[in-house]
Amino acid sequence: MSGLTAPSKAQRAPADRVTVRGATPADAPTLEAIEAASFIYDRLSSRSLARNLRSPTANIFLAAIGGVLAGYAMVFFRRGSTLARLYSIASVPNARGRGIGSRLMEACEHAAIKRGCDRLRLEVREKNRPAIAMYERLGYRRIGRYENYYQDGAPALRFEKQLVST
Ligand SMILES: CC(C)(COP(=O)(O)OP(=O)(O)OC[C@H]1O[C@@H](n2cnc3c(N)ncnc32)[C@H](O)[C@@H]1OP(=O)(O)O)[C@@H](O)C(=O)NCCC(=O)NCCS
Repeated sequence: MSGLTAPSKAQRAPADRVTVRGATPADAPTLEAIEAASFIYDRLSSRSLARNLRSPTANIFLAAIGGVLAGYAMVFFRRGSTLARLYSIASVPNARGRGIGSRLMEACEHAAIKRGCDRLRLEVREKNRPAIAMYERLGYRRIGRYENYYQDGAPALRFEKQLVST
């Protein structure tokens, strides 16, 4: 995991900033490592990551802080639909609270707008307070609740944001 260890708050220079780029198939091992560090449940398999990295209807973004890759987000599109779906987002635990998640969301929203979408939708565990707080701060509205949504039976909340091109 050393390659994914973001600088701690004490080590962080003021110049440290979050950068975001599109992921390529060569990033599969990094994505898997971020996934493993970030999720206990519902992890994406390496096969699914590899497939999505090549999919024309998915965008995957990688975020770095201080030059160290520390987060990713995956957004899905459907032909003929103006609804985009955030499939997954994560930043490694020691890099949270520094704007990586917000910057990744911004990248997903821009990608969705570029593809002609007017809404971005997502599901989140009802107990995932940090994620829900971030989505609400970014303008996502709760539009539904689903029992037994996750592998372990936990419920999900569905959020959606109306996207506005600038
Ligand atoms: C949800 C998640 C992606 C947010 O990523 P992040 O890099 O912390 O995002 P940001 O820094 O942009 O925003 C997180 C918010 O939590 C606050 N925060 C502060 N310290 C934090 C910490 N140690 N841990 C988490 N959040 C913290 C931030 O201040 C920020 O709120 P604010 O901007 O209103 O102050 C991240 O918590 C994560 O990877 N969680 C595990 C995976 C997950 O739950 N994914 C979502 C599935 S739907």
